[in-house]
Amino acid sequence: MRLKTGLENRPMATLPQASPNATLRAKTSLALLVLVTGLAACDKQTTASGESSAKTEAAASTETIKFVTTQDGSPLEIKPELFDTPAAKEFLATGKNPYVGKEDAIAAGKKIFQLYSCTQCHGPEAGGQVGPALTGPNYNYAKDATNKGMFETVWHGTNGGMGAKGKGLMDPSDPNNGITPDELLKVIAWIRSHGQLTGNEDAAS
Ligand code: HEC
Repeated sequence: MRLKTGLENRPMATLPQASPNATLRAKTSLALLVLVTGLAACDKQTTASGESSAKTEAAASTETIKFVTTQDGSPLEIKPELFDTPAAKEFLATGKNPYVGKEDAIAAGKKIFQLYSCTQCHGPEAGGQVGPALTGPNYNYAKDATNKGMFETVWHGTNGGMGAKGKGLMDPSDPNNGITPDELLKVIAWIRSHGQLTGNEDAAS
C-alpha cells in the first residue's frame, strides 16, 4: 500500500531542491534540540529557586500604589478593603482612574460633588468660589494634575482650608462618614471632564 502524498503530483523539476531542504530541516531540528535542552536547564534553575520566585509573584499581585499626604508628603495609610469596586481596585494597583471619560461615572460624580458640599466652596462647575477652581491645568498643589495626587488632597485635606473628606477622616465622631474611594474617583472623573487633563497621563504603571 502506498500513501498518497501531495509530493507525487509535483513536477520533477522541483525535486533537486529537496536535498538542500532536507539539510535545512536537519539544521533546524538541531537548533531546536539545543533550544529545548537550554530551556529545560532554565526550568531546573527556576525550580531550584522556586520558593523565592513564588514569593515575588505573590508580592506582584498585591502590589499597590503608596499614598502620601498633601500636607507634608508623609505616608498615608488607607485601608485596602475600602477599595471595594473593580475601578477602585484598579486605581489602588495602578494609580489610574478608570472612570475618567466614562459618562455614567461622570454623571454620578457630579451628584457626589454636590452631596459632599464641594459645590459650596468650589462652585457648581468646579470653577472656583471660596475654594480654588479644580479644573486645572494649574493647581495650588502641582500633584493635583494627577488623579493619585488629587485623590490624596481630597482624602486627607490640606493645611490651607481644604478639610479631609475621606471615609473615617471627614468626621472623627463617625468612622462611617465620608467619601469612599469609589465615590472620590467618580468625583475626580467629573472634575476632569471640565478640564483638558485626564489625570491619568502620569499614572504609575
Ligand atoms: C469648606 C470649603 C470647602 C469644601 C466643602 C471643599 N473644599 Fe476643596 N478646597 C477648599 C479650599 C479653601 C482649598 C484651598 C486649600 C489650599 O490651598 O490649601 C481647597 C482645595 C481643594 C483642592 C486642591 C486644589 C489645588 O489647586 O491644588 C481640591 C482637589 C479640592 N479642594 C477638592 C474638593 C472636593 C472634591 C470637595 C468635595 C468632596 C471639596 N474640595 C470640598 C475648600 C473646600
